[in-house]
Amino acid sequence: MTISTRAHHPAEPHDAPWWRHAVIYQIYPRSWADGNGDGVGDLAGITARLPYLADLGVDAIWVSPFYVSPMNDAGYDVADYRDIDPVFGTLDDADALIDQAHDLGIRVIVDLVPNHTSSEHAWFQQALAAAPGSAERARYMFAEGKGADGSEPPNNWQSVFGGPAWTRLEEADGTPGQWYLHLFDPTQPDLNWENPEVREMFLDVLRFWLDRGVDGFRVDVAHGLVKAEGLPDWHERTGMLGSHEEEHATEGEEPERAPMWDQDAVHEIYREWRKLLDSYNPAGDPARDRILCAEAWVDSVERAVAYTRPDEMHQAFNFGFLECPWRAADLREVITDSLDAAELVSAPSTWVLSNHDVVRHASRLGLKVGSQRPNGIGVGDVQPNAALGARRARAATALMLALPGSAYVYQGEELGLPDHTALPDHVRQDPTWERSGHAERGRDGCRVPMPWEAGRPSYGFGPSGQTWLPQPEIYGALAVDRQVGVDGSSLELYRTLLAARRELDLGVGELSWEDGLGEDVVSFRTTDRDGSGVRVITNLRAEPLPLPEGAEPLLSSAALTDGTVPTDTTVWLRV
Ligand code: GLC
Repeated sequence: MTISTRAHHPAEPHDAPWWRHAVIYQIYPRSWADGNGDGVGDLAGITARLPYLADLGVDAIWVSPFYVSPMNDAGYDVADYRDIDPVFGTLDDADALIDQAHDLGIRVIVDLVPNHTSSEHAWFQQALAAAPGSAERARYMFAEGKGADGSEPPNNWQSVFGGPAWTRLEEADGTPGQWYLHLFDPTQPDLNWENPEVREMFLDVLRFWLDRGVDGFRVDVAHGLVKAEGLPDWHERTGMLGSHEEEHATEGEEPERAPMWDQDAVHEIYREWRKLLDSYNPAGDPARDRILCAEAWVDSVERAVAYTRPDEMHQAFNFGFLECPWRAADLREVITDSLDAAELVSAPSTWVLSNHDVVRHASRLGLKVGSQRPNGIGVGDVQPNAALGARRARAATALMLALPGSAYVYQGEELGLPDHTALPDHVRQDPTWERSGHAERGRDGCRVPMPWEAGRPSYGFGPSGQTWLPQPEIYGALAVDRQVGVDGSSLELYRTLLAARRELDLGVGELSWEDGLGEDVVSFRTTDRDGSGVRVITNLRAEPLPLPEGAEPLLSSAALTDGTVPTDTTVWLRV
């Protein structure tokens, strides 16, 4: 067998800024650890469990929103950007969390939600009380309705969660009035980013958290802030992935862009933010950079990396990688394209397999290869093959953590947690379920509270037996205390992967593809500037793959048998 190597992505210096190679762990605060036993996770719970993350070996945490909120979209509906919701704690608790994380060498990224506020935000309440045309209304997207009596919405946009994206107000005198835009729930009115007051407010919010010591922001719906001039009608359903037009576009033609997403003018906002963040690190110390990461579901990797041009954000989530089917050719292609595109703007690529909005990869990869990613799985739906999903998830993670760039890990994936795929529908809280007329189950299944100790009520999530969503029984067997120190457990695999990744500096490594092992095998090397690193093989063939001659396995996602790499297994070999 001849193996040829093609150098691809060049290695970076060892002292590259931290975010170019960091492994960032996403905490969904409602579901990570409950300090006070009310069934909802909180900041005190997070702080108490931080040593677990230091031990796991992550570089940073990203904490989903913890701000004051009526929780109609689990905190992505913010009523006060400068305070903590009582269910999560207080600003003192946030300070304690940031300090404790820093003491443990873990950086802290908070979630910023700039596309919309909650309808309970003081600004929206003022807008409701004020007259059409007022300065208060100009902070949001108010418009007159169409038709003689204004009873039709200003345009035909649908909301991401289902149903129309416009809601009509009743004015103070009881008459039907203006409409306001909400790309998400009606309790999440979109802000008007043409208004300088809105821009000022967010610069202040950034300063507020930077002054408290946070290391960066994950920017929610970063591609949505600016809408196309004139708010033209759109003929497609509004999904997070923009136009959905890609498959209809003629080869070589740019797909038509949805008027609510990814407008060029949005980039100006991030240039301003970048200047502010850079001013917190005037000496350009690579360890002190404060960062921005875009959640931008856009049509192509080229559009995605536009958010990470040198004077904009530092990172953007790589949803192409998350969406990639479990096929070797697709994996090679998405990795190549991601690295190439990132290089065009001198940014690192990022990698992610799970988050709080998608079916966990341990479940997703147990569905038929190439099938459309479901928005939640419930009773009566096609159920994933759990064993296959778990196996492929481990192989996918072992592949991901060898890639150069920065990787995101979603809480509980280190335990191999699947989604709760049999959650009773009456406990669902994601607005998607109701707004889609029960057509889409939504995201609750990936948001179920973490299991820490198998033998305790709520599997140790908190001191009481309460959990805001029920946990599936399988979470007992997967609890942290069942996996710590257990050879071959998912948790130990993640720890080993993260330790090796750090020791070998894979995050700043050069990637070179290896050809010759066959179509259904993904194989590459990542080596740092000194030449140390790993050779990675992921076997997606139906048969075991003989290990190359002289290979010295460093770790593998499943046990190797008789000198072969079994199906759906990733192995790291010494180089
Ligand atoms: C982002 C969040 C998601 C939220 C939506 C609206 O996509 O990740 O959870 O529902 O924005 O804020």
